[in-house]
Amino acid sequence: MTQYNFDQLCNRLGSDSEKWGAYPADVLPLWVADMDFPAPPQVLQALHERVEHGVFGYGGVNAELAALICDRLWNRHAWRVTPDQILFIPGLVSALNLVSRAACPPGGGVLVQTPIYPPFLTAPGNQERRLVTAELAHTRAGNILHYHIDFDLLENAVKDKVKLFMLCNPHNPVGRCYTREELTHLAEICARHDLILCSDEIHCDLLLGDSLHIPAATLSPEIADRTITLMAPSKTFNIAGLYCGFAVIQNPALYKQVQQTARGIIPNLNLLSLVAGRAAYLHGADWHAQLLDYLTANRDFYLDFMQQHLPMLPTTAPEGTFLAWMDCREVKSIAANPYAFFLNQAKVAFNDGNHFGPGGRGFVRLNFGCPRVTLEQALQRMHAALTA
Ligand SMILES: Cc1ncc(COP(=O)(O)O)c(C=O)c1O
Repeated sequence: MTQYNFDQLCNRLGSDSEKWGAYPADVLPLWVADMDFPAPPQVLQALHERVEHGVFGYGGVNAELAALICDRLWNRHAWRVTPDQILFIPGLVSALNLVSRAACPPGGGVLVQTPIYPPFLTAPGNQERRLVTAELAHTRAGNILHYHIDFDLLENAVKDKVKLFMLCNPHNPVGRCYTREELTHLAEICARHDLILCSDEIHCDLLLGDSLHIPAATLSPEIADRTITLMAPSKTFNIAGLYCGFAVIQNPALYKQVQQTARGIIPNLNLLSLVAGRAAYLHGADWHAQLLDYLTANRDFYLDFMQQHLPMLPTTAPEGTFLAWMDCREVKSIAANPYAFFLNQAKVAFNDGNHFGPGGRGFVRLNFGCPRVTLEQALQRMHAALTA
């Protein structure tokens, strides 16, 4: 089996990268949720071949990719999906906006659990729907934070105009992979209040250690009937800049509702994203398995470092994603703006917790989808800045 080298540094400066282009070159960027690894060689090969072909006319023949997705969902989750239940969407931020519009009437409420990936907070307002938030709860053991759902708080937030619940599972930024019991409880709430469930599962193939992912729609035919699942190869295979994503919608009426709302607004998949997504699903399994080992080791390295050197900054121990969520509220000198402190004093760029809604103030989000030396350097810089 080919061994892939995730320790290899890849210079992304000057490569049109949002993550690497936003700050001066002396800042280590551990923010935007993409990884500092090249995509699998098989994906690069497929892209090279398409570029060599030289013609970039309209794409749109997605049958092979749809069949691969169906096989994948069956093999990984015993979930039977047919190609006519897949709607391709170039980018899941677009999908969150599309679903807010399609599955909730104007003025209706969209429920989300905070802290959460910021586009969940802006999509409802962008589409003239009302954002309703319910904060996740957390417990602390030593320096480790564990987030869970406060079901009473969540259900109390479902007032009569809430029609759509947008779930993030695995949850960005807190790294939870929700259990079957938690998802069942959520499904019951959706059924009781007749909510559509939009389950963003973009991180579902980024499982660390022995974590499991359960697609919400596999719980029962009843929940499948009211669920729009969002997935993509983009995070897993580091091809997010190509924009390849899809929704699985098994209720034909709901599918039609979303498809009609997308008409004329959401384009086909970009030709190169189609090629990359197909190659990733067809040939990326070994690379993916080794990536997960590497990310799990990065997580563990991060947790060891935090426990040994920065125990005053409690952190999640993520089950999924390559993102950690760090609580800086106890260090009084940085609590007001830890993002600015680390940026200015440590030259490390994180995401500012304030952008993640209620429960985000005083936190930062760290991206450990990078070679270990980069992660280690960032942690050393944080440590030096805090102990200066
Ligand atoms: C939960 C979640 N949904 C959607 C996205 C963005 O998806 P896309 O790049 O396909 O728009 C991200 C990116 O970080 C994410 O974490």
